[in-house]
Amino acid sequence: NVDTESEKSSDVVWHLASVTHEDRVLSHGHNPAVLWFTGLSGSGKSTVANAVDKMLHDMGCKTYVLDGDNVRHGLNGDLTFTDTDRIENIRRIGEVAKLFVDAGLLVSSAFISPFIVDRDMVRKQLAEGQFIEVFIDSPLAVCEQRDPKGLYKKARSGEIKNFTGIDSAYEAPISPEVHVKTAELSVEDCAKQVINYLKAGGMLT
Ligand code: PPS
Repeated sequence: NVDTESEKSSDVVWHLASVTHEDRVLSHGHNPAVLWFTGLSGSGKSTVANAVDKMLHDMGCKTYVLDGDNVRHGLNGDLTFTDTDRIENIRRIGEVAKLFVDAGLLVSSAFISPFIVDRDMVRKQLAEGQFIEVFIDSPLAVCEQRDPKGLYKKARSGEIKNFTGIDSAYEAPISPEVHVKTAELSVEDCAKQVINYLKAGGMLT
């Protein structure tokens, strides 16, 4: 019994919540949103996302971090790094982030999320102002120099295929809400740049 328009079962009916989204936002005292960190491997996404998360948590905000390596051990443990699987990876993360935003949280998600169209898809799923794209920008040469997990070395030798920036594409954001240059700033200053964006937009009042 499937509705061919939406391809969703017409027997599945949305259940209205007793505690509404508005109730949660009021009790948390800040607006919910997803801070969508995107950038090359080794650019500093997880580091800056966790620093932002700590600052927000210390300010009393309800927060959570969704991180590439961690999510790929669980929910997305079945996915590889082909373009098709990266698209599915981001689609699922987008759905999870949407649930957390509905729960009233400030979610920091740290995934390479290499394709503009997929990041825009997540943006479209959220209300105006609830998707904040944070471009963690570091030149490929710097990321490769850092190589914290030794993955660039393996990619260069051909031991790893489809590695972002080497033999798999990365499409940089065109107009991100926040553009952080991690090769030029300390971790703390990078994180403050994100916090200042939220403050300036009245998100933390
Ligand atoms: S994606 O593109 O958004 O689906 O990737 P993501 O889920 O963020 O996972 C990136 C982390 O996986 C490790 N890894 C790889 N990255 C890129 N390309 C290939 N082929 C690859 N294989 C493993 C790597 O540790 C990435 O972590 P970060 O934190 O980005 O360095």
